[in-house]
Amino acid sequence: MTTEAQTRSEFLMVAVEAAREAGSFLKERFGTIDRYDLKTSHHDLVTEADRTAERIILERIGKAYPDHGILSEESPPRRTDAPYRWVIDPLDGTTNYAHGIPFFGVSIALEGQGEVLVGVIYDPLRDELYTAIRDEGAERNGKPLAVSRIADLKGSLLATGFPLRPRLKERNLQILRAFLPRAQSVRRFGSAALCLAYVACGKLEAYWDLSLHRWDMAAGYLLVQEAGGACTDLQGGEVGPEGRELLASNGYIHEQLLDVMKEIP
Ligand code: IPD
Ligand code: CA
Ligand code: CA
Repeated sequence: MTTEAQTRSEFLMVAVEAAREAGSFLKERFGTIDRYDLKTSHHDLVTEADRTAERIILERIGKAYPDHGILSEESPPRRTDAPYRWVIDPLDGTTNYAHGIPFFGVSIALEGQGEVLVGVIYDPLRDELYTAIRDEGAERNGKPLAVSRIADLKGSLLATGFPLRPRLKERNLQILRAFLPRAQSVRRFGSAALCLAYVACGKLEAYWDLSLHRWDMAAGYLLVQEAGGACTDLQGGEVGPEGRELLASNGYIHEQLLDVMKEIP
């Protein structure tokens, strides 16, 4: 094993420990949430559980890598000029969590040299741990995983999420309208990170979203790529570090998805 590969698996180990620790806290508190705060609008919730899960992760990562940068949803960015940056969503699926709906996860990625190097998504209720290291593949609970081989849109199960901004909501309704009759079906689960993990392991053929933050997608992006899938923006271009759009698929149906997107006025 090269030093570089060794370092990446050490990064992954720390990310896994942090995700498991935060996840077991979230599991323990699940079903007991009786209040939430609003952030930018009545669509945008945060709970004490989001903040505590974040504290657990930041403590664990800060202890192991005190010089690394941090971009985490519920706190201001730290050390923005550091060569490595941890990108963290301590609780993805807050609305589900606040309503006692069992679909949420923890997402942690490490970026360096402009790329996502390692990614972890943890679903604590199902004890499903999704991990990926760049160029070394993706796993679920230690077993290699791969995208589905379904190659026609008619046989594909898709999922999406709805943006906060009204104009983008409308836009996504147009896209949804285009896909509903063409795909097998379309879901809206409420956790972008878990949906991306589901594309990576072949439960879903594709997921799209018009307005994700880096912390929603960094780990899932790497998982899908390492599981053999494709990730682009909704026009088929590269998703840059500031990109908000994502179309993640098993790769086999990617062009068909993009063709449908092109038809939408
Ligand atoms: C949200 C979820 C949702 C997606 C939103 C995200 P949060 O994250 O992933 O599925 O559609 O864009 O903001 O707020 O639960 O961490
Ligand atoms: Ca999120
Ligand atoms: Ca979150």
